[in-house]
Amino acid sequence: MKSIAFLSQKGGSGKTTLAVHTSVAAQESGERVVLIDTDFQKSATTWSEARTVDTPIVATAAASDLATVLEAARSEDMAFAIIDTAPHAAPDAARIAQTVDLVVIPCRPSAFDLAAVSGTLEIVKAAKVQGVFVLSACPFRAPEIAETRAVLAEYGLPVAPVEIIDRRAFARAIATGRAVTEFESNGKAASEIRSLWDWLKEQMR
Ligand SMILES: Nc1ncnc2c1ncn2[C@@H]1O[C@H](COP(=O)(O)OP(=O)(O)O)[C@@H](O)[C@H]1O
Ligand SMILES: [Mg+2]
Repeated sequence: MKSIAFLSQKGGSGKTTLAVHTSVAAQESGERVVLIDTDFQKSATTWSEARTVDTPIVATAAASDLATVLEAARSEDMAFAIIDTAPHAAPDAARIAQTVDLVVIPCRPSAFDLAAVSGTLEIVKAAKVQGVFVLSACPFRAPEIAETRAVLAEYGLPVAPVEIIDRRAFARAIATGRAVTEFESNGKAASEIRSLWDWLKEQMR
C-alpha cells in the first residue's frame, strides 16, 4: 500500500478538493482506496456523508492516529491511502510527513500561496519524504501559472505537469458529495484529475 498526503500550511490551497478527487479517480481506475480525513474541520468527512455510494471508504482520524489507521488499511488490502490534512498543523504536519510515502503540496498561483510554500517544504525536507507540487485552482490561461511553475521548480521538487484549473465543477462536486469524474465524466475538470492521479501514481514507482 502507498500513502499520499496533501499538505500545505495555507488554508484554501486545494488540499481537500484534490484529496477527494484523486481518491475517487483512484477508485474509478479499479484500485482499493481509503481516504483518511485528519482535518478537525472534517470537510472530506462531510463530503463523504453526502455521498450515495460507499466508496471510496472514508476514515476520520486524528493525525496522531494516522500510523494506526494506515496499518489497518494495509491489513484490509488497500492499494492506496489518501490523506487530507489541516492547515497550520505544525507538529501534526511533521508527523504526517514522516508517516507517508508521498507528500503533495498544492499551491495556487498567488503570492500568498507561494509565500506559504517554504514552510511546508521545510517539513517535507526534514521528514526526508518524497514531495511534489501541484498547481491548484489556477485562473484559466493566466500568466501567473507559468510564473508560479518557474518559482516552484527552483525549490527542487517535481511540479505536476497538469494544472488544476479553477472550475465551478470542482466546488459543485464537493458541495454535493460527488467528484467531477462522477457528474461530468467527459469534462475538462475530470480529465485534469485523471491525469493528476496518473502522474502521482507514476511518482510512487
Ligand atoms: N480547482 C478548483 N476550482 C474551483 N474551486 C476550487 C478549486 N480548488 C479549490 N477550490 C475551492 O477553494 C476553496 C478551498 O479549497 P479546499 O480544497 O477546501 O482547500 P484546503 O483544503 O486546502 O483548505 C473551496 O471552496 C473549494 O471549493
Ligand atoms: Mg481542507
